Amino acid sequence: MKYLLAPSLLSANFMQLGEEVRMLEKASADLLHCDVMDGHFVPNLTFGPPIIRQLKDHSALPLDVHLMISNPEAMLDPYLDAGADWLSFQYEAAVHHQRALNHIRKKGAKAGIVLNPGTNVDLIRDLLPDCDYVLLMSVNPGFGGQHYIPQVDRKIRRLTEIRTEMGLNGLNIEVDGGVGLQNLSRLRAMGVNIFVAGSAIFNSPDPKKTIGQMQQIIKNKEE
Ligand code: DX5
Ligand code: ZN
Repeated sequence: MKYLLAPSLLSANFMQLGEEVRMLEKASADLLHCDVMDGHFVPNLTFGPPIIRQLKDHSALPLDVHLMISNPEAMLDPYLDAGADWLSFQYEAAVHHQRALNHIRKKGAKAGIVLNPGTNVDLIRDLLPDCDYVLLMSVNPGFGGQHYIPQVDRKIRRLTEIRTEMGLNGLNIEVDGGVGLQNLSRLRAMGVNIFVAGSAIFNSPDPKKTIGQMQQIIKNKEE
């Protein structure tokens, strides 16, 4: 299992996006977490396929695209074609989950499903063989800088149990929201291997140094 740090661009300075991405590359980030919001599924708006395409053209870092949009099934292709390497959509916003997951995989990207903090992990049991990763939201999606919701701990543990029961050893578990230096090792110990962090990186006095510290915790016991 690989342990990956995915800085979220949501908290970056959009007036200097190119610089921010170069900083993340130099700091050895593993993935670029791109939060797509539509002002409908969540009460905030960010960016769409053209920005994803520009990021793809300007950076070698794999793009981890997190769709927080209504009717994601209608928008998979534009994001895949723009260069999403990892593509996830919210369980609550989709209808034909399995079809969507298979479509993402068929186009060569890693397929993920995202659960809001209040959505039970047992609901996606039958979808797990079609997932490369599950993204557990540890805040209500829409904004950076919120606090980690403690009840999510139980969901992470439950998901790791299901993963073991089903023999899905390659299933990645990603956590997003309120993640920072204070909880990385605890999350790692519970079974998380992909860590999204926005404000903890970009609002720190030295983002590059913070990434280094985070990587040290995340990669520590990599096997
Ligand atoms: C929230 C987004 C997150 C956000 C996390 O809706 O999905 O990716 O950027 O921000 P922090 O790390 O500040 O909680
Ligand atoms: Zn996100």
